[in-house]
Amino acid sequence: MNGLRPVGILATGSYTPDKVLSNADLEKMVETSDEWITSRTGIRERRICAEDQASSDLAYEAAVRALNKANISAEDIDMIIVATVTPDHSFPSTSCILQERLGAKKASAIDLSAACTGFIYGVTTATQFIANGMYRYVLVIGVESLSKITNYEDRNTCVLFGDGAGAAVLGPVPEGMGFKAFDLGADGSGAKLLSLPGGGSRYPVTKETVENKMHYLTMTGNEVFKFAVRVMNSATDTVLTKAGLEKEAIDLLVPHQANLRIIDSAVKRFGLSEDKVVINLDRYGNMSSASIPVALDEAIQAGRVKEGDNVILVGFGGGLTWGAALLTWCTREQNGE
Ligand SMILES: CC(C)(COP(=O)(O)OP(=O)(O)OC[C@H]1O[C@@H](n2cnc3c(N)ncnc32)[C@H](O)[C@@H]1OP(=O)(O)O)[C@@H](O)C(=O)NCCC(=O)NCCS
Repeated sequence: MNGLRPVGILATGSYTPDKVLSNADLEKMVETSDEWITSRTGIRERRICAEDQASSDLAYEAAVRALNKANISAEDIDMIIVATVTPDHSFPSTSCILQERLGAKKASAIDLSAACTGFIYGVTTATQFIANGMYRYVLVIGVESLSKITNYEDRNTCVLFGDGAGAAVLGPVPEGMGFKAFDLGADGSGAKLLSLPGGGSRYPVTKETVENKMHYLTMTGNEVFKFAVRVMNSATDTVLTKAGLEKEAIDLLVPHQANLRIIDSAVKRFGLSEDKVVINLDRYGNMSSASIPVALDEAIQAGRVKEGDNVILVGFGGGLTWGAALLTWCTREQNGE
C-alpha cells in the first residue's frame, strides 16, 4: 500500500437464517424445475429470513461471531460499514442500528450501496482509513434480506436469491501481508439491468407502485450474465497485475456467488483447480453483498486459507458495479503503531 500501514482481515463471521427454500419448494410456487435451476445456475437451495428478521438482525449475528474470533471488543471498533441493498429502513442507516446493538460506542457508522459488489467496496473503503492511521479496527459487513424484495411469482428472479450476512474485522497486519491491490469499477449505463424501481425518491411508494410490483427487484438476466463474465475476469486480471503476480500465484479465489456458469468461466480463464475456488451458491443462492464474506468465512472455517496465501475476492452487481481485492492472508495484528 505504498508506504502506508498494511491492512488485513483479522477475522470473519457469518450467519444465515434457518429456513431453507429448496428448488422443490419453488417448483410448487412458480413454473420451474429443479433441473432448470441447477443446470442454469448451480443453485439447489437458499436461506430465507423469518418475517420478523431484518438485515440488522442477520448482521448482528455475523458481527458478533467475527468480533469473538478476532478477540476484539465492540467498544474497540472505530468504524462500521454495512454494505446492503436491503437496509432495515431508508434511514436511519442499518450501520447505526447495529452500532447501538453491538455497543460499539466510539464507532462511526455508514451504509454503503454497491449491490453485490458492496463487500469489496466496503473492505476497500475500510482499508483506506486504517492504512492512513485514522482508524485501527473497522467492521465491514455484507448483509441482505433479499427475500423481502423478491417477487415469488417471477420465476426469472425468485429462484436466484437468498438471505444472509458475512462480517470481517479489518486491522493492521505485519509488513508484506494484507491487502496488496484493489480494483473498483462502475458503469451506470447499465443501471436499469438490475434494480428496485419503487420506494425511493423517483417513485415514492403509492398504491400504484405497489400494484405495479415496483417494490420488487427486476433484472435483465442475460445482459447481466455477459457483463458478469467480462468483469470477473478483467477485475481479477487487474489486481494480479497491480500486485505484480501471475495467475499461478492465486491460492484461493472467492468469487461472488451468482451463477456457477459465471464462476466456471473465471476458473477456466485462470486455470484454477477445484480446491482453489470457493463455491457455496448451491446452498445459499445469490446473497448479494453477503455472498463473498459468507464464502470467505466458510473457507476459513474449513481450513482452506493458510497464512501467506494469496486470496482474491471478486464480485459484480447492480449499478452496475464490480470490484476485486487481492490480499496475502494474515490474521496476526501489527504490534505498535
Ligand atoms: C438468470 C439466468 C440464470 C437465466 O439463464 P439463461 O440461460 O440466461 O436463460 P434466459 O434468460 O435466456 O431464459 C431462457 C428461458 O428460460 C426461462 N426461464 C427463466 N427462469 C426460469 C425458471 N426459473 N425456470 C424455468 N424457466 C425459466 C425464460 O423465461 C426463458 O424462456 P423463453 O426462452 O421461453 O423466453 C442467467 O441469465 C443469469 O444467471 N444471469 C445473471 C444473473 C445474475 O447474476 N444476477 C445477479 C447479479 S449480482
